[in-house]
Amino acid sequence: MALLLIALLSLSLLHHSLSCPSTHKQSLLHFKSIVAPQPTTTNDSIPFFAFDSWITNNCCNWEGVTCNLALPSKPVTHLRLSAVVPLPYTAPSTAIASLFAIDTLRFLDISENSLEGEIPSPSEGGFTSLVNLTYLDLSSNLLNGTIPSNVFQLRNLKHLNLGGNSLTGFLSSAIANLSKLQVLSIEENSLTGQIPAEIGNLIQLKVLSLSQNQFSGEIPESLLQLARLQVLDLGNNSLTSSIPDQIGALSNLSFLSLKMNQLSGEIPVSISDMKQLQSLELNRNSLTGLIPSSLFHLKMLKKLNLGASKLLLNNSLEIHPRSSFSFLSLRACGLTGSIPGWLSDQKELDFLDLSENKLTGSIPLWLTGPQIGSLIMSDNNLTGQIPSNLFNSRNLSVLDLSRNGLSGHLPVNIGNASAIMILLLSSNNLSGHIPPSITNITRLLALDLSANQLSGDSFPQFRTDTYLAYVDLSENSFYGEVPVGFGPQIRSLSLASNKFTGPLPAKLITMNFIENLDLHDNYITGGIPHWIGQMSAIYVLNLRDNKLEGAVPFAISNLSKLHVLDLSGNNLTGTVPAEMGRLTGMVDTPITYFSISDLFTFSLDLSDITTYWKGALRDLGYQRVSTYANLDLSRNQVSGRIPGELGNLKGLKSLNMSYNMLEGEIPATLGLLHKLESLDLSHNKIKGSIPPSFGSLYQLTTLDLSYNKLTGRIPVGGQMSAMTDPSSYANNSGLCGFQIQVRCEPDDPSEVEVSEGAQGEGSIGDHWLNLKWGVVYGFLLGFSVAVVVSYFAGFLYPNAPKRYLRR
Ligand SMILES: *[C@@H]1O[C@H](CO)[C@@H](O)[C@H](O)[C@H]1NC(C)=O
Ligand SMILES: *[C@@H]1O[C@H](CO)[C@@H](O)[C@H](O)[C@H]1NC(C)=O
Ligand SMILES: *[C@@H]1O[C@H](CO)[C@@H](O)[C@H](O)[C@H]1NC(C)=O
Ligand SMILES: *[C@@H]1O[C@H](CO)[C@@H](O)[C@H](O)[C@H]1NC(C)=O
Ligand SMILES: *[C@@H]1O[C@H](CO)[C@@H](O)[C@H](O)[C@H]1NC(C)=O
Ligand SMILES: *[C@@H]1O[C@H](CO)[C@@H](O)[C@H](O)[C@H]1NC(C)=O
Ligand SMILES: *[C@@H]1O[C@H](CO)[C@@H](O)[C@H](O)[C@H]1NC(C)=O
Ligand SMILES: *[C@@H]1O[C@H](CO)[C@@H](O)[C@H](O)[C@H]1NC(C)=O
Ligand SMILES: *[C@@H]1O[C@H](CO)[C@@H](O)[C@H](O)[C@H]1NC(C)=O
Ligand SMILES: *[C@@H]1O[C@H](CO)[C@@H](O)[C@H](O)[C@H]1NC(C)=O
Ligand SMILES: *[C@@H]1O[C@H](CO)[C@@H](O)[C@H](O)[C@H]1NC(C)=O
Ligand SMILES: *[C@@H]1O[C@H](CO)[C@@H](O)[C@H](O)[C@H]1NC(C)=O
Repeated sequence: MALLLIALLSLSLLHHSLSCPSTHKQSLLHFKSIVAPQPTTTNDSIPFFAFDSWITNNCCNWEGVTCNLALPSKPVTHLRLSAVVPLPYTAPSTAIASLFAIDTLRFLDISENSLEGEIPSPSEGGFTSLVNLTYLDLSSNLLNGTIPSNVFQLRNLKHLNLGGNSLTGFLSSAIANLSKLQVLSIEENSLTGQIPAEIGNLIQLKVLSLSQNQFSGEIPESLLQLARLQVLDLGNNSLTSSIPDQIGALSNLSFLSLKMNQLSGEIPVSISDMKQLQSLELNRNSLTGLIPSSLFHLKMLKKLNLGASKLLLNNSLEIHPRSSFSFLSLRACGLTGSIPGWLSDQKELDFLDLSENKLTGSIPLWLTGPQIGSLIMSDNNLTGQIPSNLFNSRNLSVLDLSRNGLSGHLPVNIGNASAIMILLLSSNNLSGHIPPSITNITRLLALDLSANQLSGDSFPQFRTDTYLAYVDLSENSFYGEVPVGFGPQIRSLSLASNKFTGPLPAKLITMNFIENLDLHDNYITGGIPHWIGQMSAIYVLNLRDNKLEGAVPFAISNLSKLHVLDLSGNNLTGTVPAEMGRLTGMVDTPITYFSISDLFTFSLDLSDITTYWKGALRDLGYQRVSTYANLDLSRNQVSGRIPGELGNLKGLKSLNMSYNMLEGEIPATLGLLHKLESLDLSHNKIKGSIPPSFGSLYQLTTLDLSYNKLTGRIPVGGQMSAMTDPSSYANNSGLCGFQIQVRCEPDDPSEVEVSEGAQGEGSIGDHWLNLKWGVVYGFLLGFSVAVVVSYFAGFLYPNAPKRYLRR
């Protein structure tokens, strides 16, 4: 009883002695009022849970606030205010300044708060009052501007983290004043200039991360003085010149990343002196020379990424690695011959990338061990069958064997590998059908079997709970009706260049999220159904070169996101529906992203979108296609007039209506398509003159109006004055203008040219026919997910040191 009393007494005493002074309390409440404004009458639902406890009198009891018993008058020493601002809210960075009055602070963490604006500068008192601060974390906010100089006066700082903001400017050499620093992280900002050599004075440093900035120049030699360094991350900058020869002097390093720079020269042999090294990333540089085999003798090394750095590994050397890798990328390292045999002893390998080498021979059985998670061997010359053992692993999540010479059937047990998320076997010589067991791969997200010799007319029916989002079966010999059993999550479906027959299946409308549907080059018959207007997520629709007939349904105008519509090379009849002028996706082409990129939590580079455009096959980057609009109805039997409403589609970059039976005049509104780069109305029966409004088509680079009945003066102005290729105007009924060097008679142009002009054109015309002037074939969309796989490192293999930095 007495004990309890004493305990109670002392508790209350303690409580009393720690009741926080009004200066500290006011500072904290001021911070709160800026970060979490009082609920307004319109919205009181903002959930600032972090401040729930900030109501009692004693601020030492508040969540995130720690006080020091020994300093009763000014007790607050630690503030842990990370992630108090819930997403998606932001708060002004001035909130930081309200804490400057708490001069007893030793520890301040305000990370992950979406604080917006500049770090409070000297004129606002800066950080100068916080003389005893040892720990400062402002990372993962929205801070911009430069790093204010008074941060460099916090001489007691041991830990400084400003990463994940938008800071700009140079890193001041005054950083050298923070001589007690052990951790310095400024990663993921936009700092420029050189890495100051003075960093070499920070001899206490254990962690130095300057990655993902725009630092340029050399790696300063002075860094070699940082003998205690354990983590050195200079990745994703613009560093040049060579890696310092003596880098091995950093003998305590366990993590070294110089990836994604422009470093040249050879890998210094001294790296093999870093006996503690666990992770080495030199990928994506311009390094040259042979990879020293001593690297493979580092016992602690678990992760080695030398991919795409122009390095060479001499595959005839006997390597007896002492490292036991879990991650190994030797992408584009000039490997020749068969898959290196020493890999067979690597029992802990989880990620292996040998893509873009010149490996030959078959995939050895030992590579199919149960532990491997990602196996990337695309772009080699591997032959033979895909070993079925590979699919007995429940650990396999990424398999990319694209662009090799693999043959034979897909193993029937493919579905045993139930953890596969990404399966890419494109561009091989695989034959046979798709094994039904594939539907047992419940985590499958992306399936690319394109450009093989696969066939069959029975397709696996994926379950309705599948995640499958991306399917490419194009360029095979599949036949039968268009398959639709890919589950409800499908975002991109390509079945192009097969032998599919029958009509468009109505089940397509159950694909609620489909953004890209590519069925070009098949034998699909029937009309374009009215229900097509219900595929509301669609963004690219390619039905080119099929046997579709009937009219283009006006319901197609309901596809409000449609950027690219290619119906060319069918047997469509009827007129061009005026409703097409309401395709809002082609009006202002709002930047749209394939949502498939959201499914993967890394920056997806689904590039290599190719298109027949402006007469040639071109690459459309993933970024560009998001702002690209194209309408192609060419090579059909469409008749009637071109509706003037098409002039609404102001986002169009390419419009092709060639090889139809269009008549009437060119609507003057087409001159409003200011983004138009390619216009093809050739091989129709269009009459009248070219509208003078074409003079404002400032982006036009390709024009074809040949084989029509056009007459009169070719307009001048804009790009029209530059459209001087006579083939653009050939075989019309009397065009004139300086572009074709035919003088217009001021009063009666048409008569003169029918007799004289046409003759002149005819003689040059024979010559033109020999030129392969481009027929614009429309749009061919093909993704190549292979590029993507290089990003899987980050996706499947979270970056360990980052966790370290973030405590
Ligand atoms: C109130 O906040 C919620 C988020 O918690 C938001 O969804 C809603 O739109 C807001 N309402 C108003 C009127 O701002
Ligand atoms: C800083 O720390 C020193 C030593 O612990 C102490 O004497 C001094 O009062 C502190 N300064 C402030 C402003 O709290
Ligand atoms: C910082 O961002 C704010 C808005 O968040 C903006 O008003 C200000 O101009 C930016 N400052 C700099 C230097 O970019
Ligand atoms: C850094 O220290 C030097 C000398 O020690 C001093 O001249 C300079 O003003 C300091 N810089 C800052 C920003 O404190
Ligand atoms: C590299 O850094 C830049 C900013 O400097 C950033 O935009 C880009 O996403 C980074 N790339 C990767 C792969 O992290
Ligand atoms: C290297 O690290 C070890 C333990 O991590 C430590 O004991 C040693 O002092 C460090 N060496 C240097 C030069 O800091
Ligand atoms: C690769 O190693 C073999 C065997 O040691 C050797 O004969 C050959 O010259 C080496 N090639 C290069 C390019 O160093
Ligand atoms: C997955 O890999 C681990 C080792 O990383 C291994 O122990 C396990 O047996 C593997 N599981 C399967 C199903 O192969
Ligand atoms: C792959 O092999 C084929 C024929 O065997 C050859 O033509 C081609 O150049 C080889 N490709 C590479 C990258 O070695
Ligand atoms: C693999 O699949 C085959 C046939 O699909 C089946 O008979 C076998 O039991 C499966 N093996 C494992 C290990 O799941
Ligand atoms: C899917 O796996 C189950 C057992 O996990 C098996 O019974 C079934 O036959 C498999 N389905 C196919 C189509 O292979
Ligand atoms: C196109 O359709 C018309 C009539 O509908 C038909 O006579 C013609 O044969 C078709 N052409 C092709 C190439 O299918």
